[in-house]
Amino acid sequence: MRVLILHSHISPDAPPDEQDTMAQVASVKDALAARGHEGAAAAFQPDPFYLEALLRGAEADLVFNLVESVWGKGVYAPLAAQMLAGAGIAYTGSDASVMAASNDKLLSKRMMVAAGLPTPAWGEAPDWNGIGPSGQWIVKSVDEDASLGLDDGAVVTGRAQVLARAAQSAGLHGGKWFAESFVDGREFNVAVLEEDGKPFVLPIAEMHFEHWQADRPRIVGYAAKWDQAAPENYNTVRDFSWSKAEPALEAELTRLAVRCWNLFGCRGYARVDFRVDGEGKPYILELNVNPCLEPEAGFAAAAAKAGLSYDELIEHICSVAA
Ligand SMILES: Nc1ncnc2c1ncn2[C@@H]1O[C@H](COP(=O)(O)OP(=O)(O)OP(=O)(O)O)[C@@H](O)[C@H]1O
Ligand SMILES: [Mg+2]
Repeated sequence: MRVLILHSHISPDAPPDEQDTMAQVASVKDALAARGHEGAAAAFQPDPFYLEALLRGAEADLVFNLVESVWGKGVYAPLAAQMLAGAGIAYTGSDASVMAASNDKLLSKRMMVAAGLPTPAWGEAPDWNGIGPSGQWIVKSVDEDASLGLDDGAVVTGRAQVLARAAQSAGLHGGKWFAESFVDGREFNVAVLEEDGKPFVLPIAEMHFEHWQADRPRIVGYAAKWDQAAPENYNTVRDFSWSKAEPALEAELTRLAVRCWNLFGCRGYARVDFRVDGEGKPYILELNVNPCLEPEAGFAAAAAKAGLSYDELIEHICSVAA
């Protein structure tokens, strides 16, 4: 195969969550080479004439779509998928409408509720209905991922604190923010891979919070994901061994992840993030249609547990591109 690896334009001073895209580009390129394929990388520009010339010059069979943001914003990422579809070339991962729907956490939650899928209760501007004077909430971005703006202060109690935090986060990071009921329980990541046109659930990882101070909320915040020197980073530890003792929970997470994949109409690969409350009830936090594909990230770790090497995973994702 000849593969054009298309990626977001990343400036050298971009924050670590954006730099991560370039690490994925290098890893995907190496993986393709190891499997005997040709891979060339180029930055996406939202210009149809430029894209057409790029595709013509590359003579690629397909595009590996690693465009996670355009003009620095995740919310514009679907543009690349939309333009690739317009150009008539096969590309990896989900299409533009699925990317747009899953990127909008509020739209996603409405879709899940309408389909009977469990997702935590929430409140949003302007009325913040449902948020009373008590209860624990987490204030999150509506349309940016990578735990942007998530630190201990994101977990608050009651309406007044929710409103104050949402205003503060909007001031700091821009964009829209909402509050979701804080599920003080276990966390699971479910990686799903397309196989023969159907979703195939890879071994499910539980995220352990080790040596966590009792008074700190157990969340995988920005530092946990992107600051390798932070204790939250090395103290959030992936574990695949839990499922042997809990086949019912494993089956339920599998069932819900597949339903979520089908509801949104995912393609190629995706990851569904869950929290499970003290009574063992799972809640879907979100669907990620462009989860990190670094060799040491969760998706590749889950594939490895299923016996798929990193190189084979990347080749497989290419082979199901449409
Ligand atoms: N309702 C919730 N209850 C408990 N913890 C939560 C909740 N929402 C988010 N979190 C914590 O914050 C983390 C990031 O949240 P979420 O996965 O919704 O956002 P994201 O920034 O889009 O993440 P990603 O990098 O996976 O795309 C979760 O992994 C979890 O630890
Ligand atoms: Mg997540």
